[in-house]
Amino acid sequence: MSGIPASESFVHVDGELRCDGVSLAELADSYGTPAYVYSSRVIERAYREIDQALAFTPHLIAYAVKANGNLAVLRTLARLGSGADIVSGGELARALEAGIPPSRIVYSGVGKTPAEIAEALLVGIRSIHVESEPELEVVEAVARELGKTAKVSLRVNPDVDPQTHPYIATGLHSTKFGIEIDVARRLIPKLVESPHLALEGLAMHIGSQLGSPAPLEEAVTLLGRFALEAMEAGAPLESLDVGGGWSLNYGHEAQPYPPASAFGEAIRRGLEASGVASRGLTIVTEPGRYLVGDAGVLLTRVLYVKDGPKKRFVIVDAAMTELIRPSLYGAYHAIVPVVPRKGEARVVDVVGPVCESGDFLAKDRLLGEVKQGDLLAIRGAGAYAREMASMYNARLPAPEILVVDGRAKLVRKRPGIEALWAHEID
Ligand code: LLP
Repeated sequence: MSGIPASESFVHVDGELRCDGVSLAELADSYGTPAYVYSSRVIERAYREIDQALAFTPHLIAYAVKANGNLAVLRTLARLGSGADIVSGGELARALEAGIPPSRIVYSGVGKTPAEIAEALLVGIRSIHVESEPELEVVEAVARELGKTAKVSLRVNPDVDPQTHPYIATGLHSTKFGIEIDVARRLIPKLVESPHLALEGLAMHIGSQLGSPAPLEEAVTLLGRFALEAMEAGAPLESLDVGGGWSLNYGHEAQPYPPASAFGEAIRRGLEASGVASRGLTIVTEPGRYLVGDAGVLLTRVLYVKDGPKKRFVIVDAAMTELIRPSLYGAYHAIVPVVPRKGEARVVDVVGPVCESGDFLAKDRLLGEVKQGDLLAIRGAGAYAREMASMYNARLPAPEILVVDGRAKLVRKRPGIEALWAHEID
């Protein structure tokens, strides 16, 4: 691969990078840099790909809000029929505010508070994904207090190696997520008997950026077999949630990831192998990155080009505060000059202004000639970028712009300087 993922939306036209026809240079002039720019067209295309990959079965796409919770992004997905996978009361509020119906909201996460559980029950979400026995007890107690029956799923940890970065592998027994199948099996009689609990589904999420469809197929097979057991024991199962993890190409892969259709096929094979395929369950999936990752760029301007004794540093106005993935995971993000120059490509480090040696956006990257004042677009910044941002070094959050049908709309503005001390008391 060229190091830059193929895109139909972020393309150079007349020597200048555009987003669905909109000039990124003009956006930088209007809104300043750094800024996130998203293409709704890319989101829609990715959604349809997953929808198509699961067309063989009744299904629900429950977008993992943690990837990008901007309301305009959520509304774009809600209009397509998407549900939401949430991990906090804050994400519940966002999903509801964006118009996602509670019947399409599932709630994952190992540390839900009683107050968050109560809120989810009052709103009537589709399913609370229970991740431990003590959590199940709290859900039951809260439901009893509210006089409700909580619809829950057991999130099982199938102990399958997802072949991905250790920080984003979640389906191994060495991680904090989910319940071992043996323990989950023991919980079923209690779930079936309790008037305050209804076992609506079984769930899992083995990890992000699945290296191949094989681990997904294996895990779905285990989950499907367990679903049959639970149904025989009297659980009123409606859904089987196979988690997120649909892989996105960032552009540096020696071997591109298999397409969405291959992951859909893996799910289908797993369901069939387990014998649960004909039982009419709704298959829920929780993609985050696949839906929004490639829809976004982080637009940044070159402040200085600095030649150190050992290497050249391209110092830009974006930093780990806007995109922490390179610092945190050594993640690769393609960097594309908005107006490419003629001249020799050089190996450089692209770094931000933050006072940390770990503040880099690319290390030892072959980049075309760049000069002070040039604009760069950092690709793959639609997912886990703005959402993981911080205000370290008293940096103001960068604005977000959504391009819809060739028109740019500011969907989160850069706050004024007083945002730095808002809510501080002296
Ligand atoms: N469902 C659950 C229960 C999850 O924990 C996650 C991600 C997803 C779905 C969505 O996974 P996706 O389809 O986006 O791979 N900050 C990291 C990713 C952390 C993912 C945590 N859980 C990164 O930037 O790569």
